Amino acid sequence: SAAEKGGYQHFMAKEIMEQPKAVRDTISPRIQNGKIVLDNITLTAEQIKSFSKIYIVACGSAYHVGVVAKYVLEKFTRIPVEVDVASEFRYRQPILDDKVLVLVISQSGETADTLAALREAKHLGARTLSIVNVVGSSIANDSDDVIYTWAGPEIAVATTKAYSTQLAVVYLLAIYFADKLGVLSAEEYADYVAKLQALPDKISEALENKEQIQYLASQFFNVKDVFFIGRNLDYAMSLEGSLKLKEISYIHSDAYAAGELKHGTISLVEDGTLVIALATQDALFDKMISNVKEVKARGAVVLGLTTEHNKKIEQVADYALYVPEFCEMMQPSLAVIPLQLFAYYVASMKGCDIDKPRNLAKSVTVE
Ligand code: G6P
Repeated sequence: SAAEKGGYQHFMAKEIMEQPKAVRDTISPRIQNGKIVLDNITLTAEQIKSFSKIYIVACGSAYHVGVVAKYVLEKFTRIPVEVDVASEFRYRQPILDDKVLVLVISQSGETADTLAALREAKHLGARTLSIVNVVGSSIANDSDDVIYTWAGPEIAVATTKAYSTQLAVVYLLAIYFADKLGVLSAEEYADYVAKLQALPDKISEALENKEQIQYLASQFFNVKDVFFIGRNLDYAMSLEGSLKLKEISYIHSDAYAAGELKHGTISLVEDGTLVIALATQDALFDKMISNVKEVKARGAVVLGLTTEHNKKIEQVADYALYVPEFCEMMQPSLAVIPLQLFAYYVASMKGCDIDKPRNLAKSVTVE
């Protein structure tokens, strides 16, 4: 009913708008007197120091959080991280022992492949930690440790607020680990904690740009194909932006590491092909500009997404979308907002069944 949707037309719109609160509810109880406190975690500093490797295992959008987490955890901990979809991980005899942490990410806590991968990891002797939204779910129960995302119930099949709270837990965990490993100065630590606390308000700011995204959606809702490109964290965001769009609007879309495009996929770019270029990482901005020029030269229409000070994007892209400037490691939490809104408005203009897209289930409990 309309009341359940809080006055919004779809649960997805309501859940998109709930993200600042969901992220705040996830972060704020874990910060006490300027320190990250992960209360129920039994992992000791010695165990964290002993890890030679971290595997991240998940499905769907939770897997995309894992792709972000690979960059973030490696940056903060310098422990090698591999990320895998659960249905692949299970069937390739993963090389595990008690020096390996298997980090499992799941909104429902019931995804069959993810649960089976977790059980396999435990069976092979790895240490397990899960990031889960549903309290008391199978994955939460079966993991050595669990950190809950406090997103509240998510009804729309396409995840938004659960995804955003999973990202928040990834940052919490990365900074927590880095602190236990002794790799952050007191100043750096305090700065990251302050950034975590500022994140919900930054997400609110990013949500203010609705009208522009609605306009862009009105320009593009009829396209047949979309390519999302980005590097590093922006590649991870391209994966999620592409999935959001295709799952609810049924537009064919794919995500590519921007530098890889020229090794094949660029052959699909023709006059009018929409390319959404993500360039929120300053260190990679110029490389992205080159990639935008490459696709422009083949006739692409480019929508560039970057941070507020990178106005240079307007010299090469046809349209520019900006998100607020923030801590680079946490920029994905802002970049995802226009991607969710774009998918939502495109699907809405196409008249799609946004909350219940065809062929998809909220939780996949078959293998
Ligand atoms: C389904 C949903 C996706 C979700 C994936 C993993 O395919 O449609 O939105 O990302 O399952 O679900 P989980 O509950 O494990 O996060």
